[in-house]
Amino acid sequence: MSGNWSPDSWRKKPIVQVPEYPDTDALDAAEKKLGNYPPLVFAGEARKLRAQLADVAEGKAFLLQGGDCAESFAEFHPNNIRDTFRVLLQMAVVLTFASGKPVVKVGRLAGQFAKPRSSDVEEIDGVTLPSYRGDMINDMAFTEAGRAADPERMVQVYNQSAATLNLLRAFAQGGYADLQEVHRWNLEFVSSGAQAKKYSELADRIDEAMTFMAACGLTPDVAPQLRETDFYTSHEALLLGYEEAMTRVDSTSGDWYDTSAHLLWIGDRTRQLDSGHVEFMRGIANPIGLKTGPSQTPDGLLELIDALNPQNDPGRLVLICRMGHEAVEEKLPELVRAVAREGKNVVWTCDPMHGNTIKAQSGYKTRPFDQILQEVRGFFAVHEAEGTHAGGVHIELTGQNVTECTGGAQAITDEGLSDRYHTHCDPRLNASQSLELAFLVGEHLKSKRDSERQNGFARKAAE
Ligand code: PEP
Ligand code: CO
Repeated sequence: MSGNWSPDSWRKKPIVQVPEYPDTDALDAAEKKLGNYPPLVFAGEARKLRAQLADVAEGKAFLLQGGDCAESFAEFHPNNIRDTFRVLLQMAVVLTFASGKPVVKVGRLAGQFAKPRSSDVEEIDGVTLPSYRGDMINDMAFTEAGRAADPERMVQVYNQSAATLNLLRAFAQGGYADLQEVHRWNLEFVSSGAQAKKYSELADRIDEAMTFMAACGLTPDVAPQLRETDFYTSHEALLLGYEEAMTRVDSTSGDWYDTSAHLLWIGDRTRQLDSGHVEFMRGIANPIGLKTGPSQTPDGLLELIDALNPQNDPGRLVLICRMGHEAVEEKLPELVRAVAREGKNVVWTCDPMHGNTIKAQSGYKTRPFDQILQEVRGFFAVHEAEGTHAGGVHIELTGQNVTECTGGAQAITDEGLSDRYHTHCDPRLNASQSLELAFLVGEHLKSKRDSERQNGFARKAAE
């Protein structure tokens, strides 16, 4: 860890996207309270994720990160957590089968409650109030009391995150993720249509493989990997008072870990080199993400990489690129080349959501599914051309049957958006669209695997 750092050294740096708390004594009291609460995740788990991400950086594994844009207090329900977990499991199975490689699963949940906003204030009918910044900070209700930043909300976030993580751990380790259950993960509303058919065929093939392995003596009893999975959590480290309170020294290594999640990321709006956010993140030993939008320059990116990963550790830094479907093939190559030229180890992932947000004619904020797929294709094409690893995807999704992004096999139209538009922030893929995306990514991974195999055969033949 770099010198001159402490969990509160960010407080002396310029910072953006932080709320003003009317009652600073109450804020201090809440942060102090959180500082005495137990960690939500353990340093050893964050280290394990770092090791798995190092495999992703080397092209030996693939990263799937996904979940809500913003979690909320109102939607806190075990069924919602289960359905998000289950759609991520389904996507992971599709990707594992296609790539023949392990898929590292990281949820955007159990802590994703604070949102950066394009404006500090919102005006409705001549009334101006602070913008909604996520349930961790204030309320969506457009009233003075609702929009006032309330520190007790951080405590509620901690409690909701603890309960969410508890359920996720039970799902991941307690039998729900058993590969023998692969048919049952399908969500009811995805049980008809093209994705359902494709998924059911895949599940049949996995069943067949499991039967074969069991006949060879490889059952979940002797190979627990067939019954359990590693599932990690992540969120944007935006509200640094909360993150500081959750940051503890690990007694094994002596390093500082932010124990609010396994992986934390820096948003595209808070990644200024000299900012409080970069300062905080450089000192924690968790794996970290860095959102990389179209305004990022090659030199700016290299400076950030040096600040955040001075040891050039391959599992430390995930670059979450969110260029937009039109810009990806124009902007990404120069970044990829600069990073490769300087020999920097990073995980490259594609967030095809945040560069493709538009306002529909109906007035809803939406994302056309075609454009999402186009950005993913562009991302793979750039890495193919540059000879680098397309390491993963970062998706805003839900297991609920929402209508927030237009298109996909269900052909959600502009007019149809109002049917089930529930998001607290950005529009998410529903389970059907998420599976469709996984199949598309799977095709890319499969063709890469086939060409690697061909090259392998050719090399052997030449020996
Ligand atoms: C987000 O991930 O919800 C987000 C706000 O992204 P970005 O920082 O890339 O705009
Ligand atoms: Co978002």
